[in-house]
Amino acid sequence: MATLTYYGHATWGLETQGISILIDPFFTGNPMTKVKAAGTAANFIILTHAHGDHYGDTVEIAKRTGATLISNFEIVAYCQKQGVANAHPMHIGGSYAFPFGRAKLTVAHHGSSFPDGTYGGSPAGILLEIEGRRLYNAGDTALFSDMALIAQGGLDVAILPIGDNFTMGPEDAAAAAKLLGARTIIPEHYNTWPVIQQDPQAFRRRVEGSTDSKVVVLEPGATFKIP
Ligand code: NI
Ligand code: MN
Repeated sequence: MATLTYYGHATWGLETQGISILIDPFFTGNPMTKVKAAGTAANFIILTHAHGDHYGDTVEIAKRTGATLISNFEIVAYCQKQGVANAHPMHIGGSYAFPFGRAKLTVAHHGSSFPDGTYGGSPAGILLEIEGRRLYNAGDTALFSDMALIAQGGLDVAILPIGDNFTMGPEDAAAAAKLLGARTIIPEHYNTWPVIQQDPQAFRRRVEGSTDSKVVVLEPGATFKIP
């Protein structure tokens, strides 16, 4: 059974079949976690886009662990220049069968420049097929109706930003939940800073009152076994 660990903001761990995956590994400067980048393990790192609150400690962790970086072509090329040895470039709409399962980069409506201003290609969401379960991480994005296409084939888990200001807020994320029809919805990208302060329990009540989805609110450090 695959297990998700929430590190706060938009940083996730995913353990499956003895393989450790980090998604958007932002530890240094992340006010939501006490976990240090140096204490993390990873076989793979998946990066949705190049913004500092997602790119975070990618290079340091990849160099130390030898993890394979999975991201768009531009992000992979940039990180290889920083000394990341193992990487697998992809792009929007493409999928590939990795040892942990299939990963697809999906559309996200957002930006993707690195902290130094370098162009980071198109931002992405991630669709994962792991141990027979389908997990969608929307990444940083606005609401868009093509989420209904991403959900074709059914979703077990959808991770959605609810912080507003930089991404969907709770109202649009609830509309996204309706389009996605996932069994479980997990909110992210909120309460890291005052500008994205939200009440995840109010989001839970809103979604559970208007869809058949169950909302799981995770405290940083908490885990969720994908049923
Ligand atoms: Ni962003
Ligand atoms: Mn962000």
